[in-house]
Amino acid sequence: QIRALTPADITARKGGQPIVCLTAYTTPMARLVDAQCDVALVGDSVGMVLHGLPSTLGVTLEMMILHGQAVARGLKRALMVIDMPFGSYEEGPAQAFRNAARLMAETGAAAVKLEGGRHMAETIAFLVARGVPVMAHVGLTPQAVNTLGGYKVQGRGADAARLRADAQAVAEAGAFAVVLEKLPARLADEITAAVPIPTIGIGASARCDGQVLVVDDMLGLFTDFRPKFVRRYGELGAAAEAAVAAYAADVRARAFPGPEHEFADDAAGAKA
Ligand code: KIV
Ligand code: NA
Repeated sequence: QIRALTPADITARKGGQPIVCLTAYTTPMARLVDAQCDVALVGDSVGMVLHGLPSTLGVTLEMMILHGQAVARGLKRALMVIDMPFGSYEEGPAQAFRNAARLMAETGAAAVKLEGGRHMAETIAFLVARGVPVMAHVGLTPQAVNTLGGYKVQGRGADAARLRADAQAVAEAGAFAVVLEKLPARLADEITAAVPIPTIGIGASARCDGQVLVVDDMLGLFTDFRPKFVRRYGELGAAAEAAVAAYAADVRARAFPGPEHEFADDAAGAKA
């Protein structure tokens, strides 16, 4: 009997063995992630990665629920965390609770993630007090791309104080972990040392308490997106392109299907 990791298990890893996290949006990818990782994140990046949206702003609660249900079917051990999409929590604690409860009840996720620091602290405390474990997300928060003016590094120079305060605020509000996205490594190290909860870095620092990447990015599946913070552990997009090209050429040359793929009219025959 494999027990699933809990938010408390993740929090207990502060300063210890690095927390391994990847995104997953589908059952087969969830199975792969579950076998190797501690946290499977159903990220709202699904909108850009799988649905071709220009940003995460168009992702709906219904999309998150559908992908969350698919991911849940592939998990045994990893903690499932699901992103709250843009517009589903920012109005206030009551709206956030209503939609977090839907995400958890309809997908089986044990925790939600939401973007924002000090201005989300009240909402995080409200959710945690009512049975919703929250992973926070500060630094570059992609749902705020239009107010941030792009997907830029956050917290450089005088802006560092804002990020320190954001990380501290979400920790004090009761978040069980916090994602630090795209900020200077030295600032990520300072925050990791300052807050009592695990920091999960993406474009942050190797010294964070854990790391997260979009799985399609590290597999080289989403071929035109090559940010500095991603190490490519595979070139699956190039492999898929070559496979599709070979199939197309074979069909045009009548080289596929081969005799081994054809059925005889006699079920007992050699081609059965
Ligand atoms: O949506 C997502 O994939 C994320 C991670 C990159 C942290 O929020
Ligand atoms: Na996200």
